[in-house]
Amino acid sequence: MGTKRRKIPEVPSADPVKKRSKSTKSHSQVSNSSFIWILILSSIPLVLIYGAFTWYSYYLSTLVIEPFSGENVIQSSRNTQNIEWGTFRPNTYFGIKAKMPKSPIFGLMWMPQFGATERPPPIRHWCDQGDGILKYGWTKHDGENFGRQEIYDKWLVLVTDFVRVESGWKARVRVKPKPGMEQGVFSLFFYVAIENDGELLLDINKRNLKSVSGRTNSIGSFSLEFPTAENVIHHDYLETLTPGFHQLKEGLINGMVLKKFRNNDEKYIALNGLVVPEEFQKYPRNFVVKQYTFKGSFDMEVHFQSSPVPSDGDETFDDIFNKFATNFDKKFEETFQLKKKNYDDAMINFAKATLSNLLGGIGYFHGSSRVKSKHVKEEPLDYWEAPLLTAVPSRSFFPRGFLWDEGFHNLVISRWNPDISKSILGYWMDLMNNEGWIPREQILGVEARAKVPDEFVIQHNENANPPTIILPLEYLMNSGFLDQSYLNRIYPRLVRWYDWFNKTQTGDLPGSYRWRGRDEKTKRELNPKTLTSGLDDYPRSSNPSDNERHLDLRCWMLLASKVMGNIAEKIDKDAKHYKATYDYLMDEDLLNNLHWSDKMKRYADYGLHSDRVTLVRPKPKQPNPHVRLEKERVFKSEPKNQYVDKTFGYLSLFPFAMKMFKPDSDKLQWILRDLRDENLLWTKYGLRSLAKSSPLYKKYNTEHDPPYWRGAIWINMNYMVVNALHHYSKIEGPYQDSSKKLYSELRKNLIDNIFKQYDRSGFVWENYDDATGVGKGCHPFTGWSSLVINLMGELYY
Ligand SMILES: *[C@@H]1O[C@H](CO)[C@@H](O)[C@H](O)[C@H]1NC(C)=O
Repeated sequence: MGTKRRKIPEVPSADPVKKRSKSTKSHSQVSNSSFIWILILSSIPLVLIYGAFTWYSYYLSTLVIEPFSGENVIQSSRNTQNIEWGTFRPNTYFGIKAKMPKSPIFGLMWMPQFGATERPPPIRHWCDQGDGILKYGWTKHDGENFGRQEIYDKWLVLVTDFVRVESGWKARVRVKPKPGMEQGVFSLFFYVAIENDGELLLDINKRNLKSVSGRTNSIGSFSLEFPTAENVIHHDYLETLTPGFHQLKEGLINGMVLKKFRNNDEKYIALNGLVVPEEFQKYPRNFVVKQYTFKGSFDMEVHFQSSPVPSDGDETFDDIFNKFATNFDKKFEETFQLKKKNYDDAMINFAKATLSNLLGGIGYFHGSSRVKSKHVKEEPLDYWEAPLLTAVPSRSFFPRGFLWDEGFHNLVISRWNPDISKSILGYWMDLMNNEGWIPREQILGVEARAKVPDEFVIQHNENANPPTIILPLEYLMNSGFLDQSYLNRIYPRLVRWYDWFNKTQTGDLPGSYRWRGRDEKTKRELNPKTLTSGLDDYPRSSNPSDNERHLDLRCWMLLASKVMGNIAEKIDKDAKHYKATYDYLMDEDLLNNLHWSDKMKRYADYGLHSDRVTLVRPKPKQPNPHVRLEKERVFKSEPKNQYVDKTFGYLSLFPFAMKMFKPDSDKLQWILRDLRDENLLWTKYGLRSLAKSSPLYKKYNTEHDPPYWRGAIWINMNYMVVNALHHYSKIEGPYQDSSKKLYSELRKNLIDNIFKQYDRSGFVWENYDDATGVGKGCHPFTGWSSLVINLMGELYY
């Protein structure tokens, strides 16, 4: 993942149905009326043909936005009795909503008052690496009932707690100034915002907002109370209209004025009560904020109840919280058994925080993607509006859904709570269109959209992404967590999905596969990216062409065939074809024919390729001799059809990662030898993505695109390799012992470094430097990097 991943190259459309212009050339003379009649009558067929043709083009263009015709996996319930509230706004430091479209949203912002001269003041709201927050994240979160988060800002430490209760939820925020900041004045804002389908009414006593009562079509009536707060100097509030949830911070700033403190002449920034332009007064308010201005330590609670309101008993916040926390600790040990494995408290707390951040990173989004197919000529189309429950890879940098990440996320989540995984996987499958395509990046709703530049939003229906979600699905099924009705609902979708891959992503030769979406025309890129594979800039053949063979996709298809066969068998569907395709793809000889480079003794892609390529700045051109032109790639030797076998890295390990080999296969010998070679992939911190000896190791892809999958250590792929080593260490064969040794070494290196970097920096990272082990890319990244907990607990698939 990374910024690059968003830059989806437009696939040039083949445009097979060009509109022909109607050429009805005027006749020189029209003298008699019967002639005109003949002309009119004879043109009717033409008009009809043109009409049919236009209709057909239109029909073709809409195929991409036609939902799959079968039943949805996720059955929507109209039950307002048990609305699932949670921290489903992971893009914010602390945000709450219900798992339903058009839920009201709640959230937190804060700022120092001594930044009053800064315009705009440094308000914290959306997770943003630019804020320079030293550390933040959930220390406990069960994905369902409760969570505790610690936020270490420059001046303050905040602890945000959330608990679900029968009538709704409660939240608590506790703030402590850092040493030296005891005299600093701060403001904390807690808000509620609704869509334009209801209203919010305020109960105010001398600028002190006591509660908000509201009503929306989605959840009925509700109340939000602010029962306790300590050390407050001033209470203020804002009551206003927002054009959308992506504009809340702007709305807040709009509602600010400078006010005098009660006891002295100094000024502070205060919310100005009702701030609605005259002409909008008649509209019901949809955005209400309570402001606390305080000095020193500060505590506050918020209670939310939706109607009807049963009594929640007289348990204190701590009573409720501690009950959940005790269960969490108990369940954590049952699931991952880290105490039993003799991990110390520091590492166990790290593992708990990592799990909690994965779970606390689960968001509920609603909206529609922008999509294109080769039949969509100009503007992209809106996909149907749909919800998605998804664990986001990074709350700050990737706060939205990514298809192939999700499979890895749920290898962890499914161990912790199978129901959450079932739900997440179901939501994804429900995003499939009737062709069997699932858009791989989901940018749903105005908040998600606000984080992605327009040109990167469009998803193209020729583009795939690895079908990783079959991994947790297989685990869930084998462990008995998938009931028949769930399987019956998801199976027809899986069949269509598989079919789409097996038809649209094939290569020229039988048994070969090829990712689409590479840009064969680019001159800027050293090696055209393969974003669809998930490995973005990992080097492939230099010249994308139809005869390319992509090793990783072939392996994903192998895995998909296996799992599909198992699922089919389980629910008494016809498993024959899947089993046959699985056996076919498992055939080592066939694999070797397509992908084994005997010269280099390694597996590789095949295609039109040259290793001798560099980026060179072109000489300035007339008429602008002073314009510095961007570097372009230049070949020092002609590309020819061959294996891409000077390149060695994650890709080469795919057949091994898929456990394709018989335990006595001589290929294991080469692979295990290369795996341990420090001149290739092995480091003290895990396996690097690309061997030092590879031509493009750590090379920029354009002059502006730094290397991404060209050396750095990524945890998802390391996990797959450890998983395979574990497999070969358990079965008898000539390579059992070396597998065992490598297994424990690699596993330990990964765990030790991820923990060390967390301890040092406060975060789990997107990837790790292969020379120093230092965390790189974005943070926090508790998407697939959280597989470290499975490594600690030795949970494999
Ligand atoms: C996948 O495609 C190949 C080649 O067209 C075909 O032979 C095979 O039966 C397909 N597999 C399934 C399970 O549909």
